[in-house]
Amino acid sequence: MNPIYDYAGKVAFVTGAASGMGLATAKAFAAAGAAVALVDAKGDAVAKAASELEASGARVLAITCDVSDEAQVKAAVERTVADLGGLDMAFNNAGIQSGATELADVAMADYDRMLGINLRGVFACMKFQLVQMKRQGSGAIVNCSSLGGFVGVPGRSAYHAAKHGIHGASKSAALEYAAQGIRINVVAPGIMDTPMVADMKKAEAGVIEDMMRDVPIKRLGEADEVAAAVLWLCSPGASFVVGHMLAVDGGYVAR
Ligand SMILES: NC(=O)c1ccc[n+]([C@@H]2O[C@H](COP(=O)([O-])OP(=O)(O)OC[C@H]3O[C@@H](n4cnc5c(N)ncnc54)[C@H](O)[C@@H]3O)[C@@H](O)[C@H]2O)c1
Repeated sequence: MNPIYDYAGKVAFVTGAASGMGLATAKAFAAAGAAVALVDAKGDAVAKAASELEASGARVLAITCDVSDEAQVKAAVERTVADLGGLDMAFNNAGIQSGATELADVAMADYDRMLGINLRGVFACMKFQLVQMKRQGSGAIVNCSSLGGFVGVPGRSAYHAAKHGIHGASKSAALEYAAQGIRINVVAPGIMDTPMVADMKKAEAGVIEDMMRDVPIKRLGEADEVAAAVLWLCSPGASFVVGHMLAVDGGYVAR
């Protein structure tokens, strides 16, 4: 059991839960006693992750869902509520990266896919989660952006457009729901040691090494370091934290 938080009797919904920061956060919620819906587009991977957590004694649900499809998101949220009994915490984290491309060379289909998953997906998750949280009069949502929600990086215009968009949508929604018992915040990771970054290293020689020069702490972040921030943002300890963009980035955006 996580010694810091007690989420017994609570229900968490985590997207992108088959890998990286989503998986680390699903595990952290389960370790703190929550029932967890693990949601991911990769059905086999999310089923495997959920059964491993279940074997450790957690109450879990594996849901195959493409967050860019609003009907699938609606069904995923409704199934979570029906099977686990409510919805107290959500980490809207599913996302993709793409190769560095100057804006004039970005295919609009690639832009649409990027925005469809990384921004529309987060928006749709909030939309349906808020229906249930309003009914309950309580809840905490954490959306996952990036250092790309604060700054620009050459070659990353579509990704950064989506991540900046998460900040705008989250701040506005936070204002709408704060008085209704629902807190909405954002966690903005820096360069993290996850399969996404491993894939970037393989696909684009030197790109991560170049970015690492701008990381004051001089190391990659760990998925667990983001999970810790998400659990805190959902906890009573963060009860007065509303509409905050929390960088977990080893100092990248403080420069
Ligand atoms: N790794 C980093 O350095 C870094 C930095 C800043 C922000 N982020 C963001 O953090 C989030 C998680 O990244 P990660 O590094 O853990 O990546 P990851 O690739 O390890 O995991 C992402 C997960 O999202 C799932 N996913 C992708 N598209 C989906 C869709 N349409 N519907 C549902 N699930 C989908 C994948 O199957 C995968 O399991 C992403 O939003 C990413 O943009 C990552």
